[in-house]
Amino acid sequence: MPNLVVIGTQWGDEGKGKIVDLLAAQVAAVVRFQGGHNAGHTVSVGGEEYKLRLIPSGILHPGTICMLGNGVVLDLEELCAEIDALVARGVDVGPERLRISRKCHLILPYHRLLDKARENFKGDGKIGTTGRGIGPCYEDKAGRCGVRVCDLEDMDLVRRKIRLALDEKNVLLAGLYSQKPLTEREVLERIEGSAARIQPYLADISEEMARVEGAGGEILFEGAQGSHLDIDHGTYPFVTSSSTVAGNAAAGSGIGPDHLHRVLGVVKAYTTRVGSGAMPTEQAGEIGGHLQKKGAEFGTVTGRPRRCGWLDLVILRESVRLSGVNSLAVTKLDVLSGLPELKICVAYNYRGRVVEYPPQAEGGLGESVPVYETLGGWTRSLDGIRSFAELPAAARDYVRRLEELAERPVSMVSVGPERDRTIMR
Ligand code: GDP
Ligand code: IMO
Ligand code: MG
Repeated sequence: MPNLVVIGTQWGDEGKGKIVDLLAAQVAAVVRFQGGHNAGHTVSVGGEEYKLRLIPSGILHPGTICMLGNGVVLDLEELCAEIDALVARGVDVGPERLRISRKCHLILPYHRLLDKARENFKGDGKIGTTGRGIGPCYEDKAGRCGVRVCDLEDMDLVRRKIRLALDEKNVLLAGLYSQKPLTEREVLERIEGSAARIQPYLADISEEMARVEGAGGEILFEGAQGSHLDIDHGTYPFVTSSSTVAGNAAAGSGIGPDHLHRVLGVVKAYTTRVGSGAMPTEQAGEIGGHLQKKGAEFGTVTGRPRRCGWLDLVILRESVRLSGVNSLAVTKLDVLSGLPELKICVAYNYRGRVVEYPPQAEGGLGESVPVYETLGGWTRSLDGIRSFAELPAAARDYVRRLEELAERPVSMVSVGPERDRTIMR
């Protein structure tokens, strides 16, 4: 298998974790290249559920090395808690299995406080962030005042940076958001314990990937969030603060773009979204209820119910173009069983015109009215189905129509959370 980038093509929670876990057995390394513990990737193995936030979904395969690239933002306490929880369940998460870039930026207590305070302040206009400090941490990275993992080797430097940051953040926290200002000690306490602990995990990820490739190993890049939460290409401002498209797998880990050989787009058989922002195919009534309940659509990180609706080919087509998707993995097809008819959004009516790509004006998606195509449903459960031919005819037609409209082949179909509930084509 050549190097592969796996990305979400919708608004996150497409089932990237399940797909990455499945493919991880065939690669030497799985690398995260953006995001932080705003991600929640659920992997089901042998009846056990693992909820991964920062640690790549390759960790359940003992022979696979997992890496966090420079594009990831790191909350040290959360990372240590995730390591401990996995170790308690018998998973080896030693420094020979988990490698962390020294260039990762740290999420600090003031990032979390600012994230939450800003959201409260915005009221109805809030983004609906996960409250994990992701946005404020990336702001400091771009503002060139962030604290990086490599700084932990020089605590005097860390102290200087934190002091300078607090001069500014405390004005905001206390003056604008009526929060208690933070002291330097409070911030340091949250990192000192874990700083020593993660030292053995630190690495030059770019160099380590070159070594993996040099030994003939293949690399899988695991995306977090989805293409329409991308900071540039998503439904701005209702997006996350990192670049989620496949191209960032190169910059976010330190590998040349020519090493990103193939791109697999993960697409849920319907659409979900957590947080604010437009979602043209959202279904509030019975259909939404069916998808929400049968698909168990609750956020992994925050437990919020996910908004649910029909499959949207307009946003999928754009994701295919933005990331150069070569093939698709369709997940949660089983959730559609029992719906008498199925709809696919093939275009939007937007300001009196029919458009095939999302409008780019802020709020444009909110003005877009879906144009639907209706397909037949199926009643049979998909339990136990292991080949494409065994699927009900209407389910095969649904996947084939998706392929036609996306102009990309569907190479995998997932019909349940477990590894063996996957059809390889
Ligand atoms: P990710 O963030 O893209 O990794 O997706 P999440 O893990 O947040 O959400 C996907 C959820 O659907 C998880 O709970 C998975 O266990 C589950 N899942 C994945 N594939 C399937 C499938 O084919 N059918 C069903 N019913 N559940 C699935
Ligand atoms: P995975 O990797 C779904 C959403 C939040 C919010 C917006 C900004 O599991 O697919 P942030 O905390 O990132 O500043 O929030 O992005 N969001 C996700 N939605 N899945 C995710 O990750 C998400 N990560 C962030 O709900 O709307
Ligand atoms: Mg998720």
